[in-house]
Amino acid sequence: MSNNKDQNKLWGGRFTEATDAFVQRFTASVDFDRRLFQQDIDGSAAHAKMLAKAGILTADEVSQILDGLESIRQDIIDDNFEWSVALEDVHMNIEAALTSRIGDVGKKLHTGRSRNDQVATDIRLYVRGEIDLIAQLITKLQSALLGVAEREASTIMPGFTHLQTAQPVSFGHHMMAWYEMLDRDYDRLLDCRKRVNLSPLGAAALAGTTYPIDRNFTAEQLGFDAPTKNSLDSVSDRDFAIELASFASILMMHLSRCSEELVLWTSAQFNFIDLPDRFCTGSSIMPQKKNPDVPELVRGKTGRVHGHLVSLLTLMKSQPLAYNKDNQEDKEPLFDLIDTVKDCLFAYSEMMPAVSCNKDEMYAAAKQGYATATDLADYLVKKGMAFRDAHEVVGKSVAFGIQQKRDLADLSLAELQNFSGLITEDVFEVLTLEGSIGCLLYTSPSPRDRG
Ligand code: ARG
Repeated sequence: MSNNKDQNKLWGGRFTEATDAFVQRFTASVDFDRRLFQQDIDGSAAHAKMLAKAGILTADEVSQILDGLESIRQDIIDDNFEWSVALEDVHMNIEAALTSRIGDVGKKLHTGRSRNDQVATDIRLYVRGEIDLIAQLITKLQSALLGVAEREASTIMPGFTHLQTAQPVSFGHHMMAWYEMLDRDYDRLLDCRKRVNLSPLGAAALAGTTYPIDRNFTAEQLGFDAPTKNSLDSVSDRDFAIELASFASILMMHLSRCSEELVLWTSAQFNFIDLPDRFCTGSSIMPQKKNPDVPELVRGKTGRVHGHLVSLLTLMKSQPLAYNKDNQEDKEPLFDLIDTVKDCLFAYSEMMPAVSCNKDEMYAAAKQGYATATDLADYLVKKGMAFRDAHEVVGKSVAFGIQQKRDLADLSLAELQNFSGLITEDVFEVLTLEGSIGCLLYTSPSPRDRG
């Protein structure tokens, strides 16, 4: 192992030799945590203002720090900032740039603060912002689904249990089932936001600080609901990120179910729907192919999100208090799961309005498989028969239909009456798909206050 001599560490004081070059690369996080630069600068600005308010820094010092931070922000946005792996992470890159720009005043920014409360603050700010974006994407997808549900409210399809034809339903009814799944995901997401939106600033390394800092001030500046309560807990736990990963895992599980159905429905064997060409790809060898890649990929990407949840849980498991470097490993899974969820929600919200229903095929499929058998049983119950007996009678009628290769609605009144004398002419009203759908309870979505 070789030594890297050309270093400018912010913590180098007690060290007598340079960091090994491999260790420098191994311990650095700047390649991925630079994504937090906006939050890091916002957190530093709030901290600096608080130091002035508490009389720890002068007004002039703080104004230099704030100007310096803003010039760094702009340079990073303009891709005009040199990131250094030797400076390990986003925090030390920005702090070192500040001192090189404004001189020794820059060295005062870190008064009463540690990278431990700094990074916890950055991640919470980042996660909060992403939660708000994800919430908007869920709402966008829900309105897309609502649009399809309204358009297809009377499009009849077979409803399935065990993937066997069960009872007729409408395509709109089916879309509203997806809508409801997302409604619960939305609630879980916003519930998680409450525990994310707390300010760890002031916990410092783990034990707080000797300076007369004002934690309420920094919390307020950064739009947090309140400061966190225990300093050791504040710098160490990433349960809020695990909660987001749990939310994301459940959401992706839902999207994987939707995807599985879209994939089935576009197959020649079902042929219930068509996806627009722009959401599909072809095969390099089979000219006839049009593959539902987008739903397939969403289904596939569910695996990586579930994996990230397990990574984060395992990362946190058994960590003693307080901060441990292990926690640096929280970022890549967290970032990737956020990116994945946003892409999948976006893809779905663009794709769903463009789904077209092959109504005739769906209708024909619903007519096969004796989907109105339950309606016939209910009809007999209404005429006075006990449900178990009605079940038996209808079972026999279905067996007869199967043997004749005819649907229940295609049997004659006389044939049906062989199974029960209670059956009269009005039976055909319940044996049709329309009659069956008519008795379904259609519940419209409850209006939701999303402030
Ligand atoms: N890069 C670190 C992380 O992501 C920042 C905190 C480091 N703190 C420390 N004492 N080494 O967690």
